[in-house]
Amino acid sequence: MLLKNCSNPPFPYLYRKKRMNLLLLGNGGREHAIAWKIRQSPLCSRLLIAPGNSGTAACGENVPVKPTDFEALKQLALRENIDMVIVGPEDPLVQGVWDFFRHDEQLQHILVVGPSQEGARLEGSKAFAKVFMQEFGIPTAAYREFDAGSLDEGLAYIAAHATPIVLKADGLAAGKGVVICTDAEEAQQEFRAMLGGKFGAAGARVVVEAFLSGIEFSVFALTDGQSYAMLPEAKDYKRIGEGDTGLNTGGMGAVSPVPFADATMMEKVKIRIIEPTIRGIRERGMAYQGFVFFGLISVAGEPYVIEYNCRLGDPETEVVLPRLENDLVELFLAMGQGKLQETSIRTDVRAASTVVLVSGGYPEAYDKGIPIYGLEKVEGSIVFHAGIKDQNGQLLSDGGRVMAVTSYGADLQEALSRSNTNAERIQFEGKYFRRDIGLDLV
Ligand code: AMP
Ligand code: GLY
Repeated sequence: MLLKNCSNPPFPYLYRKKRMNLLLLGNGGREHAIAWKIRQSPLCSRLLIAPGNSGTAACGENVPVKPTDFEALKQLALRENIDMVIVGPEDPLVQGVWDFFRHDEQLQHILVVGPSQEGARLEGSKAFAKVFMQEFGIPTAAYREFDAGSLDEGLAYIAAHATPIVLKADGLAAGKGVVICTDAEEAQQEFRAMLGGKFGAAGARVVVEAFLSGIEFSVFALTDGQSYAMLPEAKDYKRIGEGDTGLNTGGMGAVSPVPFADATMMEKVKIRIIEPTIRGIRERGMAYQGFVFFGLISVAGEPYVIEYNCRLGDPETEVVLPRLENDLVELFLAMGQGKLQETSIRTDVRAASTVVLVSGGYPEAYDKGIPIYGLEKVEGSIVFHAGIKDQNGQLLSDGGRVMAVTSYGADLQEALSRSNTNAERIQFEGKYFRRDIGLDLV
């Protein structure tokens, strides 16, 4: 039996409404995939996306408002009679968008899909997440945390530690705050640099942890802070180069399902990781009405948590949502009403893959504004726009990750071959994509 938590009140107002006005925050490939999925729901009347991109414009109405400009969001929500806000990226959550809506009399009837600021600390502070995992017995790498006041202790800890060793800036550092060092001297230098402000305030505290060797995958749960529903799992490919080499990126591709995340593995994940996490959220009284993204690693068949995120992953969403058969808005509604335990998740039996096309030079310096051609030649894939803008009908690149080409297949191999074929058909100067996404799994 699940206990009700007073910090997550149900939203009876939404019961009475048949069709709702939704506001989605963000502008990447993830948000295009969310918008694409929401658009399929008969519960959605209008869909607004702030600020959106050229892809979301085909699913709803883009509005030029920044997701972290809470006052502007308020005016927009009131003017457009918004019933539900879905938060794509982590920044607004870490800055407290949930709390802003919850504590404003004019906005508190609006269901915000995403955790409170306290809940978002699971992503926003690596040290917070580690303490949480320890408290609730969730398997993760052994660690210590240090700040400027414990610099010498940290240096000694690193000197005595086995290598490789992992250093993590505590706060959000645009995905760059994790450094894996192969020798102690390099680690000490990096440690000093982090505490010295290399990542600004995000590095005021540093988590130093043991390196785990294994294979990574991602699991997503939607939770109301009491119960949860699990979405299909995925594996993403973070390195720029084929064979998982070179610099880290936001993500170069993803696949779902993940063959090694079989029933035995997923049972371990559920019992050892997901359920203790939800219990922790409940016991700590954290208001959480959104996604938990479990970044996991299988070490000789045993799952460990590498990181939590408080939102969906990108590009994982571009394979996870296409495989989700449930109405996404209905799931959000069930979550808002504390009825997730009555919901069962239905997953498409087909495999899905996504291949990300990036600008030449990414993840380092790259040009924007490059014309994109050939989208009309794509057959049998869905192209989710990431960094693209529409200038009088001409699509131009507008970011490092330009688009994600998603395909279904009877198996991973078929899905991947479709994504790759269509990735070849799209043209823009400097285009690059990895041709080996998912090949380690088939
Ligand atoms: P994070 O931002 O925490 O996801 O870390 C970025 C990447 O660093 C992860 O996806 C892993 O590939 C790697 N990583 C982080 N922590 C560890 C660890 N303890 N052992 C091995 N690899 C890690
Ligand atoms: N693909 C990893 C992330 O969204 O953080």
